Amino acid sequence: MASERDEKAGVKRPFYAYVKHPSIDGEYPVIGHITQELFNSAVTYKPDPSDLFIASYPKNGTTWLMNIIHLIKTNGVPLGKGQCLDDVIPFLEFEGGEVIKRAQKPRTIKTHLFYDMTPHNPDAKYVFVARNPKDVVVSFYYHTVGFDEHYKFKNGTFDDYFEVFLSGGCDSGDYFKMVPEWFKKSQEKKNIHFMLYEDMKKDVRSEILKLAEFLDDSYQQSLLENDEELLNKVIEFSSFKKMQKDSKDGVFCPESRPADLPFVRKGITGDWKTHLSRDQSERIDQRLAEAGRLNSGFDQLWSEYDGLLSF
Ligand code: PPS
Repeated sequence: MASERDEKAGVKRPFYAYVKHPSIDGEYPVIGHITQELFNSAVTYKPDPSDLFIASYPKNGTTWLMNIIHLIKTNGVPLGKGQCLDDVIPFLEFEGGEVIKRAQKPRTIKTHLFYDMTPHNPDAKYVFVARNPKDVVVSFYYHTVGFDEHYKFKNGTFDDYFEVFLSGGCDSGDYFKMVPEWFKKSQEKKNIHFMLYEDMKKDVRSEILKLAEFLDDSYQQSLLENDEELLNKVIEFSSFKKMQKDSKDGVFCPESRPADLPFVRKGITGDWKTHLSRDQSERIDQRLAEAGRLNSGFDQLWSEYDGLLSF
């Protein structure tokens, strides 16, 4: 749905489907093929205590985290040509609850849902990964342009997309609602592990070890055994270079992408500085500050990264 501001400015929008959920007023934007029925089957899925959810706002490092978790769980065996990570870790609202029910236990499940829409079980585990919103809007723009069959936006401009993002209108809704809410819940609940993309970029080894401890102490031990043989494999097979290469074989995205817009695209922090205007950057700062006031500390998450959020 277009906001009043978008309509006045004549903003061109990607194509989305819209569904309803009791936790929100109005409608929730989702990827175009998702029907209300499919969505309902996803949000009413009853999690098993052994389930592990990988939750995130889109373009926040989900696939990287999924691959790391897959490598930890398989003792360092990477997926190869002809295999696809989405088959091993199904995407809840994209595929629906029935597909998840058929998956073998213990299940690992991807989702981009708001906290209140996500199926919960106090014994299941949830890992949430967040990335700074300025890099997210850039990454999400290229994602949307590249999946033209879903979004019909291949000639869309960044400035138009920025307005859609800032008004919370992209598929999966408002970043400034979803990410702060999950952050807040992660401070209250022991079964949610909150991670930052930027921390993974800075020190992936430490982040993998903390994650493994959360998943199961035995994983952490295995990673450290034999001179950290498994840990080194996990780091190597989940490196940007390796994932970008594997991505071209369809391992991380079964759908075709334009050659100049690979799914595993650039993988850096600060890419936004070459895309956002000062005004756009300041408008994101305002949303971050508002979110910080509502969910204490959220806007300080990136404070140790000097200059990350300023020109
Ligand atoms: S999705 O479509 O929502 O599941 O996208 P998601 O996986 O969350 O985010 C995609 C961005 O993550 C980058 N990426 C990586 N960065 C660093 N290292 C590794 N190994 C890695 N794998 C994926 C990917 O390139 C997207 O970011 P951008 O900025 O577009 O490059």
